[in-house]
Amino acid sequence: MLASSLVLLALAFRLTVAQNLSIPSTWRVIRARSAVSIVPYLQFIFDPSLYSGFGYWQDANVLSAMANLDYFTISRANQQAVTDSLNAAFSLYTDYDQYGVSFYNDDAMWWATAAYYGYRAYGDINLLSHAIETWQHVSNYVITASDASSGKQPNKDFLIEGSCDGETMVGGVFWRPTSDDTSVNSITTGYDVILFYLKCAHLVRVNLSAYLTSATGNITYNNAAILSANFIKTSNMNSGGLILDSIDAQDCTRSPSDWLFTYNSGKYIEGLSVLASVTGNSSWTSLLVDIVAVATKATAWEGSNGIITEGADITEDNDDVGFKAVLIRGLAEAWSRNIGNTALRTLIQSYIDFNALLDLASTSDSGSTWYSPAWEGPGPTSFIAWGQLAAVDVLVSAVRINS
Ligand SMILES: *[C@@H]1O[C@H](CO)[C@@H](O)[C@H](O)[C@H]1NC(C)=O
Ligand SMILES: *[C@@H]1O[C@H](CO)[C@@H](O)[C@H](O)[C@H]1NC(C)=O
Ligand SMILES: *[C@@H]1O[C@H](CO)[C@@H](O)[C@H](O)[C@H]1NC(C)=O
Repeated sequence: MLASSLVLLALAFRLTVAQNLSIPSTWRVIRARSAVSIVPYLQFIFDPSLYSGFGYWQDANVLSAMANLDYFTISRANQQAVTDSLNAAFSLYTDYDQYGVSFYNDDAMWWATAAYYGYRAYGDINLLSHAIETWQHVSNYVITASDASSGKQPNKDFLIEGSCDGETMVGGVFWRPTSDDTSVNSITTGYDVILFYLKCAHLVRVNLSAYLTSATGNITYNNAAILSANFIKTSNMNSGGLILDSIDAQDCTRSPSDWLFTYNSGKYIEGLSVLASVTGNSSWTSLLVDIVAVATKATAWEGSNGIITEGADITEDNDDVGFKAVLIRGLAEAWSRNIGNTALRTLIQSYIDFNALLDLASTSDSGSTWYSPAWEGPGPTSFIAWGQLAAVDVLVSAVRINS
């Protein structure tokens, strides 16, 4: 008992000294803003008439931000709109699954997570049910220990690898329900950067199942979250501590090593934050801090000034535009759940403030504020709907970490 505690302590120490939480001197200096001063900017941004023509998963992110703002500010201002939308989508699409077997598991999970945030903000148990039912639906596409040892997943019609490069596939989640959907098909088709096999459904699941544990205390969800968190740690993280995109379960093909997207690390940061606080296991906290330390300084998606450059297309909406907001949201969750770690919180606060758009990438006109999806600026000369979309989580997170 004593020996194993010492081993744990030694491990924690080794990880801790590897973490560099200092703020680079090259990050730009910005005006500090109070939470109260940011809230008015969100009133315009949440106008539902502004949001049409987005992707299904992007809509769920707007609802998530609305619910989270209410949660952070102890308000019910958005409750009706959020609840109506979440209920309407759930009755239209069973388990938030928009197209049945040709659909994407992670899209269902973006909605399920929005429903969880709604539950968290308003205590509406009906919304929690939507989240749990969706999670149970998507859990049909998880690779279990028995799937890995038999080489067969019940909802897939091809043989799977139980491990890749010596690391287990247990806990991984298939990106799409389609029975014959293999990474080979998706990757070779290659016409869309998001058409790969596993995508981030497992990331979302880690996060959501961790949340469900804190909501229900059900050890089943807890175990599932740990298996998925472990899968990402051992099989889908690069040596620099950033989260990779996907693995093909049929032949272990990996997504290109330079497919490093903010939301993969962001969703994992959010999931680990919850998992660490629910389990009280400091090894998850250590991993979380490691990842935050590198994700906030990743040259894959930002320059030396600390401003995220990913998804900056001002000519058309695309999935990438919504990714970076997910990183910021995850960081805000890590900030909320690590009260004792001042260095971590200061780094996160600085990073979110640097990326908070108001100074560089916004244009105010007659009481409305427009945001560019290009966060380095300049502010847009006309309204860009997906610029607003990318901004919602950032402003909500800025409210949180400046409270
Ligand atoms: C930690 O990060 C700071 C800021 O980026 C940098 O100046 C410093 O050299 C780093 N320290 C180590 C030991 O790498
Ligand atoms: C935990 O969740 C599982 C899976 O849905 C369910 O079968 C079980 O009854 C739940 N246990 C409790 C104590 O709620
Ligand atoms: C904490 O998590 C690590 C990593 O999953 C695991 O190896 C360890 O056994 C866990 N410790 C406890 C006390 O559960």
